[in-house]
Amino acid sequence: MVRWLDALLVSAVSYAAYSYFHRNVDTSSVRGKKVLVTGASQNIGEEIAYQYAKLEAKIVITARREQVLKKVAAKCLELGAAQAEYIVADMADETAYQSVVQKSVKIMGGLDILVLNHVLGRHFRWNGSNEDLVYLKKSTSINYWSYVEIATAAMPALKQSQGQLIVVGSQAGRPALPNVAAYGATKAAVINFFSSLSMELMLKGEDYPSITICYLGAIDTDGARWATKQIGTKLIKGYPLSDTASGIIKGGLRRDRYIYLPGYLRFFSLIREISPSLFDKAILYLIYGA
Ligand SMILES: NC(=O)c1ccc[n+]([C@@H]2O[C@H](COP(=O)([O-])OP(=O)(O)OC[C@H]3O[C@@H](n4cnc5c(N)ncnc54)[C@H](OP(=O)(O)O)[C@@H]3O)[C@@H](O)[C@H]2O)c1
Repeated sequence: MVRWLDALLVSAVSYAAYSYFHRNVDTSSVRGKKVLVTGASQNIGEEIAYQYAKLEAKIVITARREQVLKKVAAKCLELGAAQAEYIVADMADETAYQSVVQKSVKIMGGLDILVLNHVLGRHFRWNGSNEDLVYLKKSTSINYWSYVEIATAAMPALKQSQGQLIVVGSQAGRPALPNVAAYGATKAAVINFFSSLSMELMLKGEDYPSITICYLGAIDTDGARWATKQIGTKLIKGYPLSDTASGIIKGGLRRDRYIYLPGYLRFFSLIREISPSLFDKAILYLIYGA
């Protein structure tokens, strides 16, 4: 019991201190920066692109649907982007990874910020069917392997620019949740890979690129609303899209190693580390009433 109270107190104080020191950041340095955002045809990626546009960045966006990308790029220009181009690419196709980076560097004349955000993220209860296995393999390639390859291809340009690598993760990856075994596993892989990579850069004394890993909870998107309805969860209110995008951009600018949106997820993660079984039971009870 005392251990719990200590943990709660430490978490509350850490969260308050974190919130206080991380409220504001000067975003003017984004002007003219060369930014590549993946999965930018809708929702979080689209909003990230718009917010970089308002900060007058040069932007390349990528996803599969050309007509939608065209509209997003046009809106980026309207909002103030110094440049906005798109690249149509399917992240299930391994030949796309290097070429997306090479084309972006060519279009913008370099790369300062890479936001890895695209996802294949269906929520379902794992029953071990062949369909489940095929889905997991496909999502591993799109959600994990492509992140590693794109980041690897972008590393020389990001080092040269002393840039930022921003990786969009999920609480489905850590702490884990039910009904997202396939999606969560790919997100956990992404989080661990980039956490380890970031520590290796520190060991080598290399400050750049900074790596920011974003832990996101339920965000106010159609996908999250669909998942919530599908699996019958309660108590989930999506965090606003605009706050999510600005939180991600600011986390990158501060060169935070980890960011949590909404912020209370930091507290959840801490509790999960301290007492995993209790955390799991609490989640099942609070969200699923089980
Ligand atoms: N929404 C949430 O509540 C939530 C919660 C936690 C974490 N996140 C994370 O936030 C990020 C964005 O989530 P979101 O809800 O905005 O996702 P989303 O609405 O499903 O959008 C996914 C994006 O990825 C692109 N994409 C999907 N498959 C692709 C493929 N094979 N090749 C290239 N692009 C592909 C889609 O564009 P096309 O269809 O045009 O290809 C789209 O732009 C993800 O990394 C997700 O894990 C989201």
